[in-house]
Amino acid sequence: MKQKLAEIVKQVEESVKSVTEAKDIEQLRVKYLGKKGELTLVLRGMGALTPEERPLIGKMANDVREKIEFLINDAFEKISENENIEKLKKEKIDVTMPGTKYTLGKKHPLTLVIEEIENVFLGLGYKIAEGPEVELDYYNFEALNIQEGHPARDEQDTFYISKEVVLRTQTSPVQIRVMEKSEPPIKIICPGRVYRSDAVDATHSPVFHQIEGLVVDKGITMADLRGTLEIFAKSMFGQDTKIRFRPHHFPFTEPSAEVDVSCWNCHGEGCKVCRGEGWVEILGAGMVHPKVLKNCGIDPEIYSGFAFGLGVERTAMGRFNIDDLRLLYENDVRFLNQF
Ligand code: DAH
Repeated sequence: MKQKLAEIVKQVEESVKSVTEAKDIEQLRVKYLGKKGELTLVLRGMGALTPEERPLIGKMANDVREKIEFLINDAFEKISENENIEKLKKEKIDVTMPGTKYTLGKKHPLTLVIEEIENVFLGLGYKIAEGPEVELDYYNFEALNIQEGHPARDEQDTFYISKEVVLRTQTSPVQIRVMEKSEPPIKIICPGRVYRSDAVDATHSPVFHQIEGLVVDKGITMADLRGTLEIFAKSMFGQDTKIRFRPHHFPFTEPSAEVDVSCWNCHGEGCKVCRGEGWVEILGAGMVHPKVLKNCGIDPEIYSGFAFGLGVERTAMGRFNIDDLRLLYENDVRFLNQF
């Protein structure tokens, strides 16, 4: 029996040498130490031993078990270490290799300006409203007091879908849609795309953007309009910016004004940007015409309001010193990357 035990140890010593994979070690463990393993089989024969032999062989069997366990564990550790090293070698990353370059897009300058303007007015407690770009003639003209035969309705200016449906020429129809649906106090701005049948040049495009503003409440005056536009102009073009109202006519406001800001380029001296004027026109504004309030079911005896409409392209050109409107639509990344 002693001999048999010694033989088993030898066999194990030989076997672990030729094993190369961790899973083969497991098989060895089962073969020698398992329930039906070689060692167990030998130990089953213990019953045939004399009482004197039994403790001696018992101790020897324990030593053999320990030895086999040691051999197998040792082999297992070595093999898994090797396997790990192999794995790491295969997965080696060269951190000096150039990475994959992802080019990130940017916001368009028009989007930047719209967001900047929105932030100014959101800060003043305004809400943002939206309306359709394909609009009823009624909202785009009629309800805004622009009657049949008014030159603004000329086919030369307006894209007609049908007699009653147009591409909106201004964001002002959103005023009507908002007033029809809500009760004063109303404080909204509405940014959006507008369309006019204009030929493209450095200052014209058939598609452009406006931001409409509307405030209706009790006791709203021209002074509120002026104060609001001054805050807006200063935050867009700098704290030293001045504004100027020039009398004008819009059918939906009375009185009406065109509003200029002191030139952001020369600060009033006169330069190419302001064509020597010192001022640049950026919006139209006025007190909402009583007829327009009535058209929307608001009593002009109780409420008054102001409105304004601002050209986004013009503001962006001022804000970023862009001298040709067409640059904003060509989508040349060399241009767009600068903002
Ligand atoms: N809708 C006008 C335009 O496109 C701009 C405008 C002027 C809007 C005066 C207004 C306003 O709300 O009060 O020329």
